Amino acid sequence: MTDVRATVIELLGQLGSSREARQYLKQFSRVDQTRFAVVKVGGAVLRDDIDALASALAFLHQLGLTPIVLHGAGPQLDEAMREAGLTVEKHDGLRVTTEAVMAVVRPIIYEANTRLIDALESRGVKARGVLHGVFKSHLADPDHLGLVGEVDEVVLEPLSAAIRAGALPVLACLGESPSGQMMNINADMAAQELVWAVAPHKVIFLTETGGLLGPDGGIISAINLSADFDRLMQSDWVHSGMALKLKTIATMLERLPSDTSVSITSAPKLTRELFTHTGAGTLIRRGEMIEWHTALDGERQQAVEGLFEASFQRRLREDWLAERVVRGWLVAESDRAAALICEGVDGVAYLDKIVVTPEAQGEGLGAALWSALRERFEAMYWRSRINNPINGWYFQQCEMSMRRGGWVVFGVGVDSGACFDKWVTDAQQRSAGWVDGETRHD
Ligand code: ARG
Repeated sequence: MTDVRATVIELLGQLGSSREARQYLKQFSRVDQTRFAVVKVGGAVLRDDIDALASALAFLHQLGLTPIVLHGAGPQLDEAMREAGLTVEKHDGLRVTTEAVMAVVRPIIYEANTRLIDALESRGVKARGVLHGVFKSHLADPDHLGLVGEVDEVVLEPLSAAIRAGALPVLACLGESPSGQMMNINADMAAQELVWAVAPHKVIFLTETGGLLGPDGGIISAINLSADFDRLMQSDWVHSGMALKLKTIATMLERLPSDTSVSITSAPKLTRELFTHTGAGTLIRRGEMIEWHTALDGERQQAVEGLFEASFQRRLREDWLAERVVRGWLVAESDRAAALICEGVDGVAYLDKIVVTPEAQGEGLGAALWSALRERFEAMYWRSRINNPINGWYFQQCEMSMRRGGWVVFGVGVDSGACFDKWVTDAQQRSAGWVDGETRHD
């Protein structure tokens, strides 16, 4: 390992744990470097945040990672057209590109591209502007759109040649016909076609907001499409722009391997997003289903017990399950998240155990498991050791809580204080099922 790489890994460690950073670096280095990532940079980021952008990309380059960068130049174009006395006209969301508009578009795109190349090279990063030869196109609708192109084929050779030479390819959204007619390609469409052709491990959108915004105005950390898509589309706070974005990303991911993920983040947060479990931005994956089982087959049972034991770092007693009245299990397809629900008092569900690996937590499986639980059980209670670090989160989720002995008991869907009292009494006397009896968290 080179000195730089060692220093960089140490730096990364300061973001989260260095084990975490190493794990992601290994994951990202394992794939062929033409397939590590496609990074789509919005024009506004290029205009307003170029230093952070160039630094983040330079950092990846120093780690030996070579993302393919694709940039738009929308706001720059709007401004240049205004200055040239041209009105910006859109048709079906696409910029109508007459010859006169093209005359403005071309130099602006070249300039945006050069600015990024210069910023990278001044940081010692080899970068190569790729302005032609990638998007083979035809005119989409010449009568209404002028020189707007629709992509027929993505030619990857100029990009892989750059990567082989150790350079970051920086690609603009320009296409051309077989005879060399240049066309303006919408940046979102160019991104979609490029991603399908490259099939990268990560798709990264760098925006100014740095993620998708949830109902409270905060950034949604992770979306697991299999579990969350329908629910999100039906939520009244998901406005049309966001719904369109989600649909586009869902369509994009459908044609890619299931371990591909999309990260929407900002230039300054890119490193944290990539090298920590919790990330910084919105992570979207096709994700996995969380299924309900009234009983698990032997192999699954073993996998889930293994997950419980690894996460609590305790061993389960031989008879731990025999002493429970099990209602069922909610388990993620990958066995990285699971919950055991037992019979509680008055026919209410008792959440006996719930575990999500840290990595799966970062992917949003924890949240998906929780909503699956809430959908299935209107009323439910559970307990946790008073010193369990997750309690803050439980307090947010519960409607009632009470501390008794070494435990906090939480409940949702509670009718009355008297009935909650019965739940508390029941919860705190239950056996944990671990070999040594007591456990730190439960
Ligand atoms: N570092 C991982 C990745 O980039 C996980 C990121 C999690 N991000 C999030 N916003 N939840 O694939």
